[in-house]
Amino acid sequence: MTLALPPVGYDPALERLEIELLLEGVFRHYGFDFRSYAYASLRRRVWKRIEAEGLATVSALQDRVLHDPDAMNQLLLDLSVNVTAMFRDPSFHAAFRRLVVPMLRTYPFIRVWHAGCSTGEEVYSMAILLEEEGLYDRARIYATDINEVVLQQAKEGIFPLNRMQEYTENYIRAGGSRSFSEYYTAKYDGALFSPALLRNVVFAQHNLVTDRSFSEFNVILCRNVLIYFDKTLQQRVHGLFYDSLAMFGVLCLGSKESLKFSMYEDCFEPVSQPDKIYRKVR
Ligand SMILES: C[S@@+](CC[C@H](N)C(=O)[O-])C[C@H]1O[C@@H](n2cnc3c(N)ncnc32)[C@H](O)[C@@H]1O
Repeated sequence: MTLALPPVGYDPALERLEIELLLEGVFRHYGFDFRSYAYASLRRRVWKRIEAEGLATVSALQDRVLHDPDAMNQLLLDLSVNVTAMFRDPSFHAAFRRLVVPMLRTYPFIRVWHAGCSTGEEVYSMAILLEEEGLYDRARIYATDINEVVLQQAKEGIFPLNRMQEYTENYIRAGGSRSFSEYYTAKYDGALFSPALLRNVVFAQHNLVTDRSFSEFNVILCRNVLIYFDKTLQQRVHGLFYDSLAMFGVLCLGSKESLKFSMYEDCFEPVSQPDKIYRKVR
């Protein structure tokens, strides 16, 4: 991402006020609540959009976004950072196979929630992993994101062909034992993943900031999402996950995220601290 910044001489206090007003307007007009996202990253993304729209001030962006839903959709795409990969952090997936799968074997039915699933690479990775472990037919995966555009891409299951080598290496390092190419068909510059992998997946729009818990899960994965939230919002979402997990349910966070200093820290014990896998124990 380019490091877009305000022009030299832009008053920082005024900039902050304008950004707050922009976020307030977006929330009140469209219902998307970015008011408690971490400021530094949010600010860069706002300026990236100002540049792309050919504007000069945050207030000009606010004016455009409030009057033009297409500009809002663009801003939403920028603010919701959708970078992802299949078997992202292979050591996490290897630890999941080694430490979490044996627990899941003891359940008659497994409910998994991918919160902030982006374009779905993480969901297909989990479906493959559970399939290979013989658990997929008793699993149901709920995959949610704030952003409908990425959810639509996830449902289509077409990923760039030029990333398949990286994904194959990730898959092998994550403990995959088959030929990764069994799971997709190459079409032009895309890799179309087997629709059978989605047979137990439900995609839905869900906003972690404003929406509530919608079921009880045995596993929740929310990786590389909370990093964009401020501490107070992170804490609230930890509470949402605590309420949504069954006793001994497993919570998986991203490599730069943790439950440290969260008021829910004591409710969980680490299954693998380095891989950010936790289990609800009280
Ligand atoms: C960097 S991606 C992470 C994707 C995937 N979990 C991974 O680790 O590769 C962050 C995702 O979180 C989603 N997101 C951001 N804010 C959200 C919110 N308030 N509620 C639900 N999803 C959100 C974004 O739309 C984006 O798809």
